[in-house]
Amino acid sequence: MGQLLSTSSSSRRSHLLPSSASKAPLGKTEADILLSDSSSELSHPFPTEKNNDNATNTQTPTLLPLLKKAKGHYYYPVSGPKILDACGGAGVACLGHGKSNKSVIKAITTQISTVQYASYAHFRVDPVLQLEKFLCESTDGKMGKMYLMSSGSEAVEAALKFALEYHAWNGQPERVNIISRSHSYHGTTIGSLSASGHTTRRQPFTSVLNRTNFHHLPPCNPYRSPLPREEYLSSLLTSLESLITTLSPSTIAALILEPIVGAALGCVPPLPGYLSGIKSFCHTHGILLIYDEVMCGMGRTATSPSHHLHAYQSFPEPDISPDMMTIAKSFSASYLPASALLISTPLSNFLTSHNKVFTHGHTNQSHPVVASACLAVQGTIQSRNLLSNVAAQGGLLLHLLQKQLSQHPNVGDIRGRGLFVGIEFIADKTTKQPFERELDIASRVHKTALKNWQVLVYASQGCADDQGRGDVIMVMPAYDVTAKEIRDMVRRIAGAVREVFGSLWVA
Ligand SMILES: Cc1ncc(COP(=O)(O)O)c(C=O)c1O
Repeated sequence: MGQLLSTSSSSRRSHLLPSSASKAPLGKTEADILLSDSSSELSHPFPTEKNNDNATNTQTPTLLPLLKKAKGHYYYPVSGPKILDACGGAGVACLGHGKSNKSVIKAITTQISTVQYASYAHFRVDPVLQLEKFLCESTDGKMGKMYLMSSGSEAVEAALKFALEYHAWNGQPERVNIISRSHSYHGTTIGSLSASGHTTRRQPFTSVLNRTNFHHLPPCNPYRSPLPREEYLSSLLTSLESLITTLSPSTIAALILEPIVGAALGCVPPLPGYLSGIKSFCHTHGILLIYDEVMCGMGRTATSPSHHLHAYQSFPEPDISPDMMTIAKSFSASYLPASALLISTPLSNFLTSHNKVFTHGHTNQSHPVVASACLAVQGTIQSRNLLSNVAAQGGLLLHLLQKQLSQHPNVGDIRGRGLFVGIEFIADKTTKQPFERELDIASRVHKTALKNWQVLVYASQGCADDQGRGDVIMVMPAYDVTAKEIRDMVRRIAGAVREVFGSLWVA
């Protein structure tokens, strides 16, 4: 093992079969899964999750498993055994599933019978005001205003538009450029996808994505840099400096990044000093700094019992708070769809003092029932002291995954923070060469884990280079996961990885 696997479909299958033809718990071998693509029950809009027929370049959508119910930390399909949820979708179901969270359900139903809807343009409603207060306080007052929406993409789109409108109000309409990073994902709308640097998610839409105003820097991904850390950090900041000079500082509206990169890189925290370096350049040049904490935020990356809610707060660097931030996913635990744009207190004060209203709104913005759900979810996280559990179980998860898998010849890196852990697979451990895209390694691990080990993990591709190569799975259990469940999860995941690569490593 360790050498690059062949990409031709006939040889690829024989190479990928386990040398020991290991039997999985249900008596199915990997061959059963890999050779039964046509009857696969998996489908996903992003390419790594599709059944690719590379010979004809067509993709065949197939049926997903039909779900009967989801409860606690398990999914119950109509047929087959229950499935342990190790990722909550895309790191969303942070309180698990179903009626185990009675206070959330009660808050939703009570709000529906009080005020189920009132347009944000006509009324203020109490749960929205309470939620805004809660969020602003959670940033120690750094953030001063909330726009409540439904999806992460909407929140990012709003942040980008706010930056443009703010500069125009402020007498700098020429600030029209946005800096983001390659290997990033900020959403599915044309604006948020223009900011995103994820090659394969952009690819079908490149003709309409904005390449005039959006400029991508390399991300901070220490695993993939050959340079020593100090040198690497300095090279990243130098590339930001030269991009700012090339564009001219007075033309730049905002810089957007994920403090800890989620699906696009697979749970990668930056080097110490990176965020403060970025903030310093932004501050000097009047560029608004936007943190996209849609995936890594709202407690997901808590690392110590005293940890705050937001990912940027987990770094010891002095004030690296942003000018704007976006949140979603664990915000409402997806009891209802929710996201928010938070703007800083100075920006909020600017609106008040200049009598300005952001020219942006959705029909369901500031939805009272959504706000009630978010408040109840956040109240549950606080009252059950779940951030401590995120820190404790996150430490255990990382430790056990590393113990089980770090020696594996096809596991390149296991990294993350809190309950946000990524496992990157590589074809060659010495050169860190990624697998060819067509092998769909991450998707294979996902499928094997689901079908043979009854554990759901999140698969992503494209973390290694600009050709869309680089396979990673992400483990993002619910905040109330137990140590016993973590051990079980790791056993199943390690089993699936072992099965896919057919390895003989020593545990
Ligand atoms: C960092 C980040 N930003 C934005 C988005 C877009 O969020 P949504 O899918 O809710 O539109 C995602 C989605 O995964 C994300 O991970």
